[in-house]
Amino acid sequence: MLSEKSGESQGEQVDNPQEEVENLAAEGALPEAEIAPESADAPEEESAAEAESPAEPPIMETVPVEEQVPGQLLEACPSCGTLMDVTTQEPFAKIYCPSCGQNLRARRQFNNFQLIEHIGEGGMGAVFRSLDCNLHRQVALKILKKECAANAEEQAKLEQEARITASINHPHVVKIFSFGQDHGQFYLAMELVEKGSLDQLMTLQHRVPELQVLNVGIQIAEGLEAGLEKGLIHRDIKPGNILFSDPHTAKLVDFGLAVVMDEAASVRGEIWGTPYYIAPEKLDNQPEDFRSDIYSLGGTLFHALAGRPPYEAETASMVALKQLKSQPVSLQSFAPDVSSETAYVINRMLAKDREDRYPSYRELIDHLSYARHKLVERTQKPQQPKARVVLETQETRNLSAYISLGLIATILIVGALLWVFRDKLFGDRLALGASSSQTAGSKFDEAEGWKALREGVKLMNNRQFTEAGEEFHRLAESGGVPQPLKNWALMNQGLALLANDDADGAAAIFNQVAKAGPYSTESDQAPLASFFVEAARTLASPKSTIASEIDRVYSSQGYEAFGLLAFAMHDWILGEFDDGGPLFRTFSRSGGFAPRMDWIADYKKFAAPYLTDYTTLASLQTALDKVKTADDAQKLLTKVKEAESTVTTGNKIAERLQEMKSELKVKGAKP
Ligand SMILES: Nc1ncnc2c1ncn2[C@@H]1O[C@H](COP(=O)(O)OP(=O)(O)OP(=O)(O)O)[C@@H](O)[C@H]1O
Ligand SMILES: [Mg+2]
Repeated sequence: MLSEKSGESQGEQVDNPQEEVENLAAEGALPEAEIAPESADAPEEESAAEAESPAEPPIMETVPVEEQVPGQLLEACPSCGTLMDVTTQEPFAKIYCPSCGQNLRARRQFNNFQLIEHIGEGGMGAVFRSLDCNLHRQVALKILKKECAANAEEQAKLEQEARITASINHPHVVKIFSFGQDHGQFYLAMELVEKGSLDQLMTLQHRVPELQVLNVGIQIAEGLEAGLEKGLIHRDIKPGNILFSDPHTAKLVDFGLAVVMDEAASVRGEIWGTPYYIAPEKLDNQPEDFRSDIYSLGGTLFHALAGRPPYEAETASMVALKQLKSQPVSLQSFAPDVSSETAYVINRMLAKDREDRYPSYRELIDHLSYARHKLVERTQKPQQPKARVVLETQETRNLSAYISLGLIATILIVGALLWVFRDKLFGDRLALGASSSQTAGSKFDEAEGWKALREGVKLMNNRQFTEAGEEFHRLAESGGVPQPLKNWALMNQGLALLANDDADGAAAIFNQVAKAGPYSTESDQAPLASFFVEAARTLASPKSTIASEIDRVYSSQGYEAFGLLAFAMHDWILGEFDDGGPLFRTFSRSGGFAPRMDWIADYKKFAAPYLTDYTTLASLQTALDKVKTADDAQKLLTKVKEAESTVTTGNKIAERLQEMKSELKVKGAKP
């Protein structure tokens, strides 16, 4: 039986879909108490601006343990010192001081965690940005509602799941730092992941580009695989439980937590889950396994691609849901532009019978990666003109023959006239030379544009970075330069500036690309358009990137390899050789370029000296770690000095060698 209770915003009983839909729409909104301006409390002398946005009420002061009354939690009003019993208050609840009327916020401390800001809430509790006062780092603190884990058995189960989740160390699973209890409430401290959820991205974009969805699918499947290796299944995969730490990195949150809600619901004879994504076997009260997570992930990816979930129930009575989910679903019917490879994987993930889904995460990841590879490959190939079917009759054939003859004759006559008067017509322009093939107002010659881009790459290979940067700049600024050529010119200009050690100049160019947003939303252009924006946004950041993450996001096959190269360069000039070096190596193995993009392969010559220097540096570093005696140090010092005269790739590597020399002197080498 389903419960009459409709639950909170997410992960609730599946008895009221209308509310579920409304709640989904409202997700991310703060609770009313947080946003309601309390203008009545604004003092009269406040400025208009302050009155419009009243200051956050002060947080109550903690009363020392020795002054606390057993069984009660006392906190003090910071204005008048009145003590108040806040035992039953929710964390951060707004209350009034009965003595001075001051608007206050109650308790904000949970053991060593100080609540800083309310992030949001779901079916199980609320999440706060908090400070871990022991380690002085910010965390996300999820405080479960009192009714969750109310009895000892549920608590034990929750602790067990939390402990296993905490042992998962994976880039696509939100890390659990600790868990515990305070004021009778269970809490989890976890990694703060601040770039929003997939759910928020879907609200923003309605339909998420296919490439991005495939990347999310691959990453989350890898996270789920890591959980399964520890024997965990997630049980509540949905867009709200997929968070982004940066535009390329998705992380799965709330691993194993649903077990408590599941058990509590089954005691009440209910089924707990999010109707859109819940697996059919769960509706049949069968035990879940990892393939139920595969189903929910399939539903999530479907929703992101199509802008609607696979099944939109008018009513979510169990019977209706079961009936709906017994029908096969086809992604193509709601998203016909999605590639057939992607549609195949998603449809298979959503098979009603779990035996028909994927038998392992490895196979699922392989299929998602294949779909991604095909998509990237297709984007790079020039579009073939669509075949046209024309019904020909004898008359139309004759007509086209006459038109063709007429056209040929006209072309010949005009050509002959142009030849005769060529000096008069073009004399001035020819005198200006080839570089000014674009005159004001003339149409942009795209073939010339691509040629200019290749010229720039040649200059890069000759290590003439300033000249290369100027060439790319001229191209990007030419009147009428079409996309994607303009963005390629800018991305190359950014690379040239990086190679010239001009991180700020490069950041300004990358920012320009990122701020302009995707140049097209057409399905055949969208992946490339979002590649520019996402790569440029990260490249504009002064922080280094982690090679393994970039490797995972960008393919070495096709145009994305340019991303590998740019990130390699970006890390190199920051002195992050252990990230930059491996990325140069992956780039040097790149291939599969479409004819127009083969200039990217020419960059392998440019990458070669970085790879050589990386190999030199890595072998010196290994030798340095092994130095035991002053004699070893002396010998290695000679090698480092030799290396100083051979490295060619910038200031940071010279600095690193300098540091090595100092370390060797400390280890006993004489200058
Ligand atoms: N580790 C985290 N870092 C940053 N924000 C987080 C983190 N975990 C959750 N959040 C955010 O906190 C809010 C509440 O999350 P919560 O998990 O409680 O709700 P939910 O996912 O909507 O529902 P459910 O209870 O079913 O998981 C969401 O906006 C979520 O994006
Ligand atoms: Mg959640």
